[in-house]
Amino acid sequence: MHPPDSEKPGLSRRGFLKGTGLSVAAVGLVKSATAAQEAPAAEVPTLSAAQTHEISFELNGQTTQAKVRTGHTLLETLRDQLDLTGTKLVCDQGSCGACTVHLDGKPVNSCLVFATDVAGRQITTIEGLAKNGNLHPVQAGFLHEDASQCGFCTPGMIMSCKALLDRNPSPTRDECKEAISGNICRCGTYFNIFRAVDHAATLMKGGR
Ligand code: FES
Ligand code: FES
Repeated sequence: MHPPDSEKPGLSRRGFLKGTGLSVAAVGLVKSATAAQEAPAAEVPTLSAAQTHEISFELNGQTTQAKVRTGHTLLETLRDQLDLTGTKLVCDQGSCGACTVHLDGKPVNSCLVFATDVAGRQITTIEGLAKNGNLHPVQAGFLHEDASQCGFCTPGMIMSCKALLDRNPSPTRDECKEAISGNICRCGTYFNIFRAVDHAATLMKGGR
């Protein structure tokens, strides 16, 4: 298990920003309490005045605008602002892979990516895989091989498996293990996932 940011020897960039936000909030609360006792109160800056940024990026093939706050993650933006809840929030610290999406075609943990950093870039989520009502071969492979139980890891797994097949149409079992090594399935469906990748590889080559 990964220790929480507060127990790590060095603070992560994201942890620092989040911590800074909490510190600002805490200072704001203390100031508010003090100000309530010492009238007249000066105006106390609040987090609602935190910087927001208008960003534009390509999301599942569509140009998309979003207003994001400093320190917000891509995962928060996808789920809370853009209502794309297929990408799952589980550990929120980069250790489970449930939040995997593609950034410029490469798999990333969206809980570790600042939303402001995706401006002008391409994001693909699980919602962007099916085309014209047809599942992507990797999705079809997961269905065919019954590679999902609770389903919480599944969107992130599928995104990692798709990235693998995009760069390597005929992966070995070891290459498949390596590709999903950052994705944790608590239900233990790994063998079905390996077979799903084999099935998807066949489909992508035009087989059945
Ligand atoms: S929720 Fe992002 S890696 Fe676990
Ligand atoms: S299917 Fe439950 S965590 Fe993978």
